[in-house]
Order: sequence, then structure tokens, then C-alpha cells
Amino acid sequence: TQNYRITLLPGDGIGPEIMNVAVDVLKVVGKQFDLQFEFQQALMGGAAIDATGEPLPADTLEMCRNSDAVLLAAVGGYKWDSLPSHLRPEAGLLGLRAGLGLFANLRPAKIIPQLIDASTLKKEVVEGVDIMVVRELTGGIYFGKPKGIFETETGEKRGVNTMVYSESEIERIGRVAFEAARKRGGKLCSVDKSNVLEVSQLWRDRITSLSQEYPDIELSHMYVDAAAMQLVRAPKQFDTIVTGNLFGDILSDAAAMLTGSIGMLPSASLGASGPGVFEPVHGSAPDIAGQDKANPLAQVLSAAMMLRYGLNQSAAADKIEKAVSQVLEKGDRTGDIMSPGMNLLGCRSMGETLIQALESGNG
Ligand code: NAD
Ligand code: IPM
Ligand code: MN
Repeated sequence: TQNYRITLLPGDGIGPEIMNVAVDVLKVVGKQFDLQFEFQQALMGGAAIDATGEPLPADTLEMCRNSDAVLLAAVGGYKWDSLPSHLRPEAGLLGLRAGLGLFANLRPAKIIPQLIDASTLKKEVVEGVDIMVVRELTGGIYFGKPKGIFETETGEKRGVNTMVYSESEIERIGRVAFEAARKRGGKLCSVDKSNVLEVSQLWRDRITSLSQEYPDIELSHMYVDAAAMQLVRAPKQFDTIVTGNLFGDILSDAAAMLTGSIGMLPSASLGASGPGVFEPVHGSAPDIAGQDKANPLAQVLSAAMMLRYGLNQSAAADKIEKAVSQVLEKGDRTGDIMSPGMNLLGCRSMGETLIQALESGNG
């Protein structure tokens, strides 16, 4: 038996609802693959602010550090939106990424054939899309200094953030991306704004130099505005994309929608060593929280990414991904991916149908 200590951070909004489903799924595959999960739950985000005054209490970070992997749902909500930025739920998430050194965020956007009709784009455009966005996660404008709201001599306020990348930061995310491209279609598109930003010029230079070490990978460059356009015009041209923190945040939401719903997309945040954090691309969806409407599949697929990338248990990950395809094949849908003739389920019943699929499979 393999033992794993998993820290669960359900967070806010729909977080607890979708986390329950993912944990049930992990328990079932754990039995099937002889994996013993020791789950420990901790506070983060708005839930942590309410209990302790801080979005990322020190013992939460410590617990995460001492685990084999962290499964996170989502944080944030209206209730905390007017707090100063360092005390908001989102600051807890940034603190967790920085605290664990999670510089590489893998955000796959792969069309699930059963969901083609759920996309707002034409079938011909999205059929076969399979993109991996590699987003830099601990640098760029999210973390650069100076930052803050400052008062000038005239008493006017100025909001400041700074987009910074050092060569070593560019190189380490570049390596992750070239390696990812090598395991996929062998194509890497680096996205920047080097026609305007110096930080992007350095980015493009370093990625270009690095490509000499990866002669088997076909490297291209694209400006971020053009990339946003191409993602909706002709997404099939992309295989692996590498980009900075802010551009990656934006482009990964766009890529998510190609697949029909942001409620389907998982992600993995990884560092050079230590535990990774596995979380959906979507947020806490406060508009549907507590109504049993959330799609738990992004969370469940994040648990699969945890097994694959964090714990090296790809057979168990495959099993979960297969169960997801099976329930979609059967026509089971939450509201966000509903189409005519399908069975509308709530978050909990989606979890139950997944468990049935897992238990009926020959795993
Ligand atoms: P969101 O992703 O929470 O929601 C956008 C829309 O998608 C909403 O209409 C929502 O109902 C829907 N949606 C999202 N996930 C869904 C799911 N699993 N099933 C069904 N529908 C789903 O983005 P937002 O509304 O811009 O942000 C809400 C809060 O979440 C904010 O406080 C934001 O800062 C936070 N946020 C957190 C994370 C995170 O924790 N990783 C990521 C993004 C946003
Ligand atoms: C995401 C979210 C976060 C980000 C926020 C909530 C800090 O949008 O994970 O995509 O911008 O990275
Ligand atoms: Mn985002």
C-alpha cells in the first residue's frame, strides 16, 4: 500500500461542494489501486479570513508543505471584495503559490468529444482541440515591485504594479514548456508583448536561446493580442503555449471556453521540488454557491492531475478520466454543460454517477 498525505483546501463558494465530490472519487480509486490517502483539511481564502483574519494562516502553509500534494478548490466571494488587496482571499492563493515555489502552472484544454455541442464555437473550429497552456505562476506583474497605491505630491493616488522577469525565471518556465511540448505534439508557441514591453523582449530572447537545446521542438512566437484572437479563430494551430503570469491567466480562461465550460478544466501548479497544488481553472462561482448546481468535474479532473503529476499514479488518473468520459457519454450533465436531450444533474448527483462509473468499470 502506498500512503499519501493530502491537504484539502475547499475554500469558498462552490469550493466545499465540488471538493466533497473529488474526495469521494479519490476514496474509491484509492481502494481500487491500493492507495491510502490521509486527508487533512485546512483553511484558506475567505473561510480563513472569517476564522483567523488572514487569507493564508501560517499553519495552513505549514500543513501544505508537509504533505505529498495539495488539492485546492477555489477562493473568493463578494463578502471579501472590499478588503485591501493583501487581506483578500486571492492574496492567500498567491501566498500559497509563492510559499511553495509553484512557478509552473499547467492548464490543459482538451475538447471532450461528448461536449462538442456545449461549446459556443462551431464544431469544425473546436473539434480535436488539445492545448496545454504553461503559465508562469510566481513572477511577472502579479509579484513585481514596486507595487501598491501611492499618493503623489499633489495628493493624487497612483496604482502601481510592475511586470518583471529575470532570465532565470524565464529559463525555468521555458524548460518546463519545452519538456511538455516534447511529450505532446512537439510544437511550442511562446506568447508575449515584445513589440511594446522590454520584459517581453527579454522573454523572447531567452526562450529563443533555450530552443537551441530543444532542436526537436518547433518554436514559434506570438503577441498576446494576436494569440487571444487566434485562440478563438483557429485553436487547432496550438499545441503547447508558454507565457507569463498575467497573459497566461487570461489566455487560459479563453482556452477553457473552447471546451464548453470553465467548469471542466483542471490545472496543476508545480515547483522544482515539494508538493504541487492541484486546482480547477475556475473560481468560487459565488453566483451558484450553495445551490448544488456546480460542475464538480474540473475538481475531479484536478484530483486526476494530482495523481498523475503529483503522486506518479497515472493508472489511477486514467481511471478517473475514463469515468468522466463515461458519464458524459451517458448524457449526464450539470447546468453549465447542459444541452437538449441530456440528463440534468446537480453537483452531488454528478458525484454519485461518477462513483457508479468507477465501481462498474473493470479497474
Ligand atoms: P468564476 O470562475 O468563479 O465564475 C465565472 C462564471 O463561471 C460564473 O458564472 C460561474 O457560475 C461559472 N462557473 C465557474 N465554475 C463553475 C463550475 N464549476 N460549475 C458551473 N459553473 C461554474 O469567476 P469569477 O466570477 O470571475 O470569480 C468569482 C470569485 O472567484 C472571485 O472572488 C475571484 O477572485 C475568484 N477566483 C478564484 C480562483 C481560484 O481560487 N483559483 C480562480 C478564479 C477566480
Ligand atoms: C486563477 C485565478 C487567480 C489568478 C486569482 C484568483 C488570484 O484567476 O487561478 O486563474 O489570477 O491567478
Ligand atoms: Mn484566472
